[in-house]
Amino acid sequence: MNLESLKSQLAKYSQEHVLDYWDELSEEERQNLAAQIEEVDFETIATLVAGKDEKIDFESLAANAETPPSVRADGSGAEWSVEEALQRGEAALRAGEVGAILVAGGQGTRLGFDQPKGMFSIGPVSGRTLFQIFADRLLAIGQKYGVAIPFYIMTSDATDAETRAYFEENDYLGMSSDDVRIFRQGTMPAVDAKSGKLLMASKSSLALSPDGHGGTVRALDRNGCLEDAKKRGIKCLSYFQVDNPLVNVCEPTLIGHHLLSGSEMTTQVIRKRFAMEKVGNIALAEGKVQVIEYSDLPQKAAEATDADGQLKLWAGSIGVHVIDVDFLCRASQNTSSLPFHRAQKKVPYLDASENLVTPSEPNAVKFEKFIFDLLPSAKNAFVVEVLPSEGFAPVKNADGAENDTPKLAREAIVAQHRRWLEAAGASVADGVKVEINPRFSLTPEELRTKIPANLTIDADRYFDA
Ligand code: UTP
Repeated sequence: MNLESLKSQLAKYSQEHVLDYWDELSEEERQNLAAQIEEVDFETIATLVAGKDEKIDFESLAANAETPPSVRADGSGAEWSVEEALQRGEAALRAGEVGAILVAGGQGTRLGFDQPKGMFSIGPVSGRTLFQIFADRLLAIGQKYGVAIPFYIMTSDATDAETRAYFEENDYLGMSSDDVRIFRQGTMPAVDAKSGKLLMASKSSLALSPDGHGGTVRALDRNGCLEDAKKRGIKCLSYFQVDNPLVNVCEPTLIGHHLLSGSEMTTQVIRKRFAMEKVGNIALAEGKVQVIEYSDLPQKAAEATDADGQLKLWAGSIGVHVIDVDFLCRASQNTSSLPFHRAQKKVPYLDASENLVTPSEPNAVKFEKFIFDLLPSAKNAFVVEVLPSEGFAPVKNADGAENDTPKLAREAIVAQHRRWLEAAGASVADGVKVEINPRFSLTPEELRTKIPANLTIDADRYFDA
């Protein structure tokens, strides 16, 4: 695009200020800035800034919200048994129909770790990183079912280069490099909260940030991952976030529930501890499974109970899904399938006096898409409960915070592995840390066949692959 057409494009949307320093820029800087500008969907930004995008009336939606179709952690709620789900999921894994998609493009600001979150050491005894734990699990599952599980990893500008280098330097964590596909998600510009003008990060760069985990749909498509999955015969992807070391990725029972329910998208959830808990609520409203954020949920709807006195909206989102590849292909062709959400954030910017300002209060609006917004358009969307102790230990905040810290996640790993060992007949002394590599055992049942009877553990121990 030449300068004149850039200018007229910007003028149409009153965003000409982004070229204020054009004359001072080197040729390379000009090219970079022009490329960034060309990627911006100005029409969408203008609609969002003007507040003209379609808004959901959560109040009325929530007023009619019912419990979504689901299977509970004890197996109740489904027309099939847990054993049948396990067998169905195992058959799909054995047939090589399951892949994994990890979203690792977030900036991880709350944790305050200066590398991609996947490189964070979380193993309580081994010190293994989140990426290593996930790769171990995929290798173990692949080995158990005699297949190679393709591992799609979404990064962003903030995490891409370091993630790629980490996998290359560490021999793809034991996986075949052919089975690991790292790809970058798109960006969205941040706008000034008052004026709606695009913020500049420098004279030659817009203030850009990743377009949310909902950006996965477009990025998978744009980077050829959906095509790759189809070529490999993959029917569904086990979707997970980088911050959950206990995640049930490619877990056969979860896959089985997904397949037996005839669902195009299944979401794993935990039971909320109380009505107004700060999680996304999975609800059935207007005939569709949808997520109502806690901030959009009126108290009355949150506290509504069914005939048994149980919360209707008991299901809290944990960012774990199983999604059909065909459904993702369909969604990727429909650009409006996911709405943008707004978040007020502190975004450093270049001010009119050419100073880079680091604001102390939110000054900007960021726009993000969320993957769970696919649920309403999925056929037979389904919900599967997992106990937090068996599948959810988020690493969001730095140690010292009240919840979702690395310390608590490590404790959750130790507690789970202690339970498995004790169930297998071992005795583990109080205060001792234990950790099991998924390649040593994926389940308590496997563990029983691997350890000697009456094993006593009285010092920290890592059961390595
Ligand atoms: P979070 O919503 O926790 O955001 O992401 P975050 O950026 O990681 O952390 P904070 O809020 O800055 O502290 C949930 C999951 O979605 C991924 C993250 O990497 C994480 O696995 N994500 C989020 C993306 O891949 N891209 C995004 O644009 C946003």
